[in-house]
Amino acid sequence: MAAESRRYETLPGRRVAGVVDVPGDKSISHRALILGALTVGETRISGLLEGEDVLNTGKAVAALGASVERLGGGEWRVHGVGVAGFATPDRALDFGNSGTGCRLMLGAVAGCPITATFEGDASLRRRPMRRVLEPLERIGARAIASEDGRLPLTLRGAREPIPIVFKSPVPSAQLKSAVLLAGLSAPGETVIVETEATRDHTEKMLAHFGADVRVEPNGGLGRRITLVGQPELLPQPIVVPADPSSAAFPLVAALITPGSDLILEGVMLNPLRTGLLTTLAEMGAAIERLEPRKEGGEEVADLRVRGSALRGVEVPAARAPAMIDEYPILAIAASFAEGVTRMRGLKELRVKESDRLDATAVMLRNNGVEVEIEGDDLIVYGRGRAAGGGLVVTHMDHRIAMAALVMGLASDRPVKIDDASFIATSFPNFAPIMTGLGADFS
Ligand code: S3P
Repeated sequence: MAAESRRYETLPGRRVAGVVDVPGDKSISHRALILGALTVGETRISGLLEGEDVLNTGKAVAALGASVERLGGGEWRVHGVGVAGFATPDRALDFGNSGTGCRLMLGAVAGCPITATFEGDASLRRRPMRRVLEPLERIGARAIASEDGRLPLTLRGAREPIPIVFKSPVPSAQLKSAVLLAGLSAPGETVIVETEATRDHTEKMLAHFGADVRVEPNGGLGRRITLVGQPELLPQPIVVPADPSSAAFPLVAALITPGSDLILEGVMLNPLRTGLLTTLAEMGAAIERLEPRKEGGEEVADLRVRGSALRGVEVPAARAPAMIDEYPILAIAASFAEGVTRMRGLKELRVKESDRLDATAVMLRNNGVEVEIEGDDLIVYGRGRAAGGGLVVTHMDHRIAMAALVMGLASDRPVKIDDASFIATSFPNFAPIMTGLGADFS
């Protein structure tokens, strides 16, 4: 594989075997840098994901006055400025491809009496920000943005932030986290009501830093989160566990290539992130959880994965928040399964790094897999194989790129992708890791 080339091709017929050291969780890495920057004193982070998305968040918090220093591979030190302590940056904050970095930092800036401009790449400029700006304006921030509230935009933070009760209209951890981060500077209680629970890393990390956060059930799948504002956040060491959303790619690679046998080490199994594992188990996947333990406040385990005969299943809409980033790679597993897999309630996939619902369907169709979109559902007609031979247009989306490369490991003919460069946003060593396990990318 030529490192300078953006176009990759996976050659089929290789099984994968070995032990994988999966990179640190992207969600937790962003939050570690941001919350570290909002404490007074030194936070040490180990296992930070050094992908482009997270590095951009690091640059943003540094531009706002925190000191951020790399001590060695995955080892970082952040000297924070305290809650509401960010200073007006002297340049625009560029979040590149990252919706998470951008939306969380909109929240963090909204609670400070400063003005900052937010910028991103062509993919991020297409993504909706109005959903975040609306509650931040209720808190007292003011956004200068185009009519549809997309990047680039300038945010003037609140001088006197107001604690709000926010009923989240979409299941989004980014939106919830933006409101929590802004609520840190408000006096009194900021309350967020979710009708479907989303990943809870912000709540957990706030509590780890000493904030008073209460999480209560709120009927059905919902939660009510109450944050007492203006806490003094105390610096705490953070250990970032391995990212289940990145682990998903070598994991499915092993499932669909007969004879494969992989160990994925220390994968985070936060129950709000394990929807893919639940689904794959229902499909008949041979995945064992070895040595379950706690790391950095999260449940983790080593996963042993072997090539498996999979069958199609129904994936309920209620499971979507716990596997929202995993649908492209699940669609690959579903292609190699026997029978129909129907994935329900995928509306939010339309506003990811690409329109992932469309991009996933086109990826499959161009490689000989029968697929349909019906409303917000994706239906894959699995026949235990894929013809391959297609060129996948990745639309600046790292997860489409990795899913397509995994597909090519087991398809009849090679699968090509137009651009591998965005893989570096979340899984910078994906190609060398996969090659080390036996994959052949050229
Ligand atoms: C994330 C939340 C999810 C997910 C994203 C990471 C987070 O986005 O897709 O990759 O770290 O909070 P939404 O909140 O838009 O669902």
